[in-house]
Amino acid sequence: MTQNKTIAAIALALAAAAGLIAAFLLPPPGATLAALATGAALTACIALLQSARVETGRNDTLEPNAPDHPDARTLLESSDEPMLLTFERRVTLANPAARALLGEHIEGDDVRLAIRHPAAAERLLGDPAEAGERTTRTDLAGLGDAGQRWEMAVATLPGGVRLVRLIDRSQAHAAEQTRADFVANASHELRTPLATLLGFLETLEDEEVAADAGTRRKFLSIMAEEAQRIRALVDDLMSLSRVEADRYSVPRDPVDLVPLAESVRAANTRVIEQRGASVVIDNQAGEAIVAGDQVQLAQLLTNLVTNALRYGRAGTPVHVRLEDAGPDMIRLSVIDQGEGIAAEHLPRLTERFYRVDASRSRSVGGTGLGLAIVKHIALRHRGRLDIRSTLGEGTKVRVYLPRYQA
Ligand SMILES: Nc1ncnc2c1ncn2[C@@H]1O[C@H](COP(=O)(O)OP(=O)(O)OP(=O)(O)O)[C@@H](O)[C@H]1O
Ligand SMILES: [Mg+2]
Repeated sequence: MTQNKTIAAIALALAAAAGLIAAFLLPPPGATLAALATGAALTACIALLQSARVETGRNDTLEPNAPDHPDARTLLESSDEPMLLTFERRVTLANPAARALLGEHIEGDDVRLAIRHPAAAERLLGDPAEAGERTTRTDLAGLGDAGQRWEMAVATLPGGVRLVRLIDRSQAHAAEQTRADFVANASHELRTPLATLLGFLETLEDEEVAADAGTRRKFLSIMAEEAQRIRALVDDLMSLSRVEADRYSVPRDPVDLVPLAESVRAANTRVIEQRGASVVIDNQAGEAIVAGDQVQLAQLLTNLVTNALRYGRAGTPVHVRLEDAGPDMIRLSVIDQGEGIAAEHLPRLTERFYRVDASRSRSVGGTGLGLAIVKHIALRHRGRLDIRSTLGEGTKVRVYLPRYQA
């Protein structure tokens, strides 16, 4: 097809040349016609040449000095994904990423020594003809560091050389694991109060027990508490999934943090009184207006203030401080005087369901989702969360939020 077009283009070019000569030689009316014909022939010739160039996908005529393809070593070394070439039983070439993963001196090694994994050996020692030309993929769990997951993609090239790529699937695997753990944890957290509820329901079915007003009242109040716990958990799960679903839409409404903090304090009046505590709002930022989502920021503050009240010492004040953090950010800190959190727990606090002392947190109605929600809200606002704590002294949770730019 391309060849035919090129021949046609040459014929048209010749016709154009003949037309040009005719235009010079012929008297005026013939000369005009010949000139028009020459123009048409030239246009068709250029169009044909261009379409032939598109078909070949190359531009040999216009770029005669285009470089040759680089050699295999240069190609493989330009990739930061571990890649090898093998021939028969040996590794003939390994790029730096492959050497970092499998060993500096694997070139020339037997493939079984280079990739110490039974599934890899089986795939690489088989007959190349059997695998055909398609790329095969094999999971190599256990290769490299613990927790790493690799997938090996093998393509058989002409001549029996194999191109082996090792694809890092660790992140996808970790995400899958987190999802599975999350479902298991959520089910467990729901199951415990449900079991208690069902147990009391069964007991109340006994007419003798139900007849006693005092027992009935006591049981019903425990059942109400367990039902509340289930509702709190479901509410937290729903908030978390809402914030996660919205994570790519950055909220931009102006939200004044001072009235927001005041409304959170008002909503917690009962708990504050019960703990003999106070919530002190200390605005050092002048106009503490951030770009955000009012409902989510109220939730963020509620979660932090609730934690400070819950885990702070009874009778001590909780401070909500607003400060400037550079021209573009406002720092919101919630500070308590409590038992504090040991350093080893700090990096894990924002994991879903993570609790330093699970039974203690559960006894005060905690589900371990509060800080996970705070982190996601901060991230959605393109902000940042920072938790500092000193055992025996207290905890300071800081959230950096972008200032509203009118
Ligand atoms: N201010 C604090 N002082 C001491 N420990 C804290 C503080 N804030 C959080 N923690 C610890 O971190 C854990 C996780 O907190 P998070 O708010 O995520 O969950 P929670 O309070 O247990 O439950 P909830 O989902 O109801 O908030 C808590 O169980 C507690 O052990
Ligand atoms: Mg909490």
